[in-house]
Amino acid sequence: MKKITVSAPGKLMLLGEHAVVYGKPCLVTAVNQRMTATVELTDDKIFQLDAPDVQITNYQKPITHLGKGEIPKGAKFVEMTVKNFLNRHPERLAKDLSRMRPSNKLRDSSASPQNDNLGIKIVTKSEFSSEFGFGSSSASTVCVIKALSQLTGANLDNKQIFNLAYKTVLDIQGKGSGFDVAAAIYGGTLYFVSPGKVIQPLKINTLPLIVGYSGIKFDTVRIIDEVAQKAKKYPWVIGNVYDQIGQLVEQAKKAILKEDWESLGELMNFNEGYLATLGVEGKKLSRMIYAARDGGAYGAKLSGAGVGDCMIALHSVQGKQAIKKAITEAGGQVINIKTNAEGVRIE
Ligand code: PMV
Repeated sequence: MKKITVSAPGKLMLLGEHAVVYGKPCLVTAVNQRMTATVELTDDKIFQLDAPDVQITNYQKPITHLGKGEIPKGAKFVEMTVKNFLNRHPERLAKDLSRMRPSNKLRDSSASPQNDNLGIKIVTKSEFSSEFGFGSSSASTVCVIKALSQLTGANLDNKQIFNLAYKTVLDIQGKGSGFDVAAAIYGGTLYFVSPGKVIQPLKINTLPLIVGYSGIKFDTVRIIDEVAQKAKKYPWVIGNVYDQIGQLVEQAKKAILKEDWESLGELMNFNEGYLATLGVEGKKLSRMIYAARDGGAYGAKLSGAGVGDCMIALHSVQGKQAIKKAITEAGGQVINIKTNAEGVRIE
């Protein structure tokens, strides 16, 4: 049977979170901790998933039941991805299966997979904890689409992979800009406007970031909803905040391209102030952010939806150790990553 392994990077939001959901640009970088999916086409009509990092072992259901019934949290993204791929490309899989089984050579290759014996077995493995907020769900969605695209000869290009992966994320979460999906596919450091209206890779050599994990987990969709409530009550405040964040992102893009870390740090600090206005700063994250600044960072801010997950700090060559120490003393866990990592790839 045909089998393939694909990997995709995690991501870190640099600037522009929340405002990006409302049409403003953001900056995101891919990190060198990766999600891997091994995908195999079988002929037992079963969808099988092993995702030990999210406590899914030997999860099985008939292919015809994809998306139906109670789906465990850890299986949702992969299962819905397969369902959406099959809905979008049924003819590819039917064709592929008839090629795989010599006895089926004469079968009608346009038959829908629902009538066929198609089964799909997937094993996912992550180099990072799903708790960090590095976008493990989106990365696994991207891996599975890329793998199925290769196995079936559908050969989707990056934009087609983006569209299908983003649709899957929206089917499950209802909201989100898709910046994490873009980072998983394209890698590098991107200037992104939702929903994939602009996906511009920035040519850079380095990005001197330190990442601190707060140990606090909070639901991204819930935070987006709370910010939306505020925007409804105080549109003149929040609307302006989004506009200002959009401006910061434009300036930050220039600073990144010039490797002007001092300016980028200042812009990150401004961005953090606006995120505090949105009410998503989180006490512990704030302590870590101020500690990093006191420790000599050019700038520091939360990364992602806020309240929990990670903060990022921009460091000088000499300042690295002192900032790491400051973050640790504030109760954070420093995660060693490299930015600007390669996008989705076949292993
Ligand atoms: O919490 P994360 O890392 O998934 O980041 C969410 C960032 C938001 O802008 C709040 C939402 C989004 O999809 O852009």
